[in-house]
Amino acid sequence: MAITVEQVIDALGTVVEPERGKDIVRLRMVKDLRVDGETVRFTLVLPNPASPFARTVEDAVRRAVGKAVGAGVRVEVSLDNEMIGLGDDLMLGGAAETPSSTPEPLNLIAVASGKGGVGKSTVAVNLAVALAKQGYDVGLVDTDIYGPSIPTMFGLKDARPTVNEERKIVPLQKYGVRLLSMGFLVDPDKAVIWRGPMVTSAVQQFLGDTAWGELDFLIMDLPPGTGDIQLTIVQTVSLAGVVIVSTPQDVALADARKGVSMFEQVNVPVLGIVENMAYFTPPELPDRKYYLFGEGGARRLAEELGVPFLGEVPIEQSLREHCDAGTPVVAEAPEHPSAQAFTRIAERTARQTAIRNATLPATEKIEILHR
Ligand SMILES: Nc1ncnc2c1ncn2[C@@H]1O[C@H](COP(=O)(O)OP(=O)(O)OP(=O)(O)O)[C@@H](O)[C@H]1O
Ligand SMILES: [Mg+2]
Repeated sequence: MAITVEQVIDALGTVVEPERGKDIVRLRMVKDLRVDGETVRFTLVLPNPASPFARTVEDAVRRAVGKAVGAGVRVEVSLDNEMIGLGDDLMLGGAAETPSSTPEPLNLIAVASGKGGVGKSTVAVNLAVALAKQGYDVGLVDTDIYGPSIPTMFGLKDARPTVNEERKIVPLQKYGVRLLSMGFLVDPDKAVIWRGPMVTSAVQQFLGDTAWGELDFLIMDLPPGTGDIQLTIVQTVSLAGVVIVSTPQDVALADARKGVSMFEQVNVPVLGIVENMAYFTPPELPDRKYYLFGEGGARRLAEELGVPFLGEVPIEQSLREHCDAGTPVVAEAPEHPSAQAFTRIAERTARQTAIRNATLPATEKIEILHR
């Protein structure tokens, strides 16, 4: 059977860098990964070529890949002794605290949709909590100035972040997620009249002026739509990629299709599509799935567009209740079908991010010329 990139990523994800205690995929040490028949090629970026780990890692990766896909595989590794860095990317607070030249790698992931109200914020919140439960360091930022919902969904409506001695905003923390919402800082009633450039420079400032600390993932909940504001926000930071949320109806799928093509045109990789409100399972009939709005639309769209399908989330009354109560279902009711769906979606998102980092160069950001 042909070797897949997924298999190789999963195998490399078992090789842990002992000093930092994280695996080499999570540390973004694997670059330029190509799988060609029975041959696997990639570059290993070694931040500290003098470390004992650097001397043994080549053997370790060969063993890991061989074990996963069979001894017949040819593994060609080039070593790159460069420092891993974020270049001139957003340093997200960590830089001021630790003047280290090797800041922790960070994956910025935007959650977007074409249509409003399809469950972006619900997906962003539960994705963040699920990733945190899987052991990642996670931040979540609500960039929806006009209708911030993260304060409600985390039960932090009246909370206010503080500012540290370095005059950086200290994010709030709940369910293992560091979070910040425009809703904490800007009165949504006043922001209604803000125009696009004001929103983007506010978002940019608030990302850069926050002491996030070490993060593996920073999830950005975008405002509804895939227009100017969304595009500018995602282009002013170096994004690992975007997760598109859709519901099964044709109108939502048409907008999701537009969204995918818009992000691809500006070279923001689409990590995948999530189908929300995909089906209904009556609590007393747990084996039934009623596809009220049609079955498999988002999966087919993903296949057609050649982007990953990340999973389907059922319509669930208790999911909505947990959102309203500020108690994310993944944290408070992990046995619910929706929570299990979010857990799988988080695993796939992390894997797609790893694949993206190992196979594609960093996403280019643009400079904002107007303020
Ligand atoms: N799978 C689901 N089952 C039941 N209710 C859901 C589901 N997904 C979302 N909801 C509910 O639908 C409403 C809209 O969800 P949400 O706020 O996440 O959408 P959104 O796309 O972020 O909206 P907006 O475009 O306004 O930002 C919320 O009340 C939420 O609790
Ligand atoms: Mg929202």
